[in-house]
Formats: sequence, C-alpha cells, structure tokens
Amino acid sequence: MAILKILQYPDDRLHTIALPVAEVTDKTRALIEDMAETMYSAPGIGLAATQVDVHERIIVIDISENHNRLLVLINPEITASSGQADNEEGCLSIPGIYGKVLRAETITVKALDADGKSFVLDAEGLLAVCIQHEMDHLVGKVFVEYWSTLRQARTLAKLKKKQRRTM
Ligand code: NI
Repeated sequence: MAILKILQYPDDRLHTIALPVAEVTDKTRALIEDMAETMYSAPGIGLAATQVDVHERIIVIDISENHNRLLVLINPEITASSGQADNEEGCLSIPGIYGKVLRAETITVKALDADGKSFVLDAEGLLAVCIQHEMDHLVGKVFVEYWSTLRQARTLAKLKKKQRRTM
C-alpha cells in the first residue's frame, strides 16, 4: 500500500473527466487500497480517483467514527434523488476551505464494489452529501465551483495567502 499525492486546487487536472472502469481487476483493487490509505491518513471521509490523478470512475468513502466501514463505489450512477439540503463541505484538495453547497437530500446510487459486483445503495445525510461531492470530482468539479465567481476569487486569494505563510 502507498499514500498517494492529493492534487491541490486550483490544479487543472482536477477538472479532468474520469472514464468508466471497463473491468475491475487486481490493479483496480490495488488502487482502491492506496486510495483508502491516502484518505485515512489525510484524514478525510471521502476521496475520488481524480484527486490522486487517476481518471477512472472510482470513489472511496468512510464516514464511520472508527474508520472501519470502507465504502467503494466504482462507476457510480445516481438513479434517483429527492429533497434539497445545504451542508457545510470541505475537500482534501482544498484544505482549510469550508462552505455550504445545495444538494439532493436523499439519493439512490448504483455502483460496482471492489469485486466488480453491482449493488444499489440508498443514502441520506452525510453519506448522501459525500457521495455527491465525490461524484462531482469524477466529472471534474470541485465544491467551491458551485459558489459565485466573486466568492471563488476570494477563496483563491485566501489559499494563496495561506501558501505564502506556510512556505
Ligand atoms: Ni473533495
């Protein structure tokens, strides 16, 4: 296993659109293990392959308190959604920046697991938020891009200032 480098916003590679996984292989599972290790060590509750510069539709999530309930979603598709809720979000690619995004409150998602088996999951609350946030990464969107142009510019300025301070 290995800890992978997480791309940092505004890296252009975060805007890459991921391709579906054609076949779940040992190579896919090795990547998933590395992604999980990277997410846990960050620490974070979700990571999309896009964030480690692999442009395949793969997500790992673990919202459990003990970090022992890894959820793997390969080729995820939202098949139903309802309601609206805005929750505070953060992202491992944009450390220190938090803010609200309006998303569906409950979703049904269809995906493959690490064995390549299809499953359907109903999600609400934090899990629904996290799945939608990570699925956005797979189509090249980071959460701050829901915000106004002005707020995005301010966020970038804040990040630049932070980088100067920590150098
Ligand atoms: Ni993120």
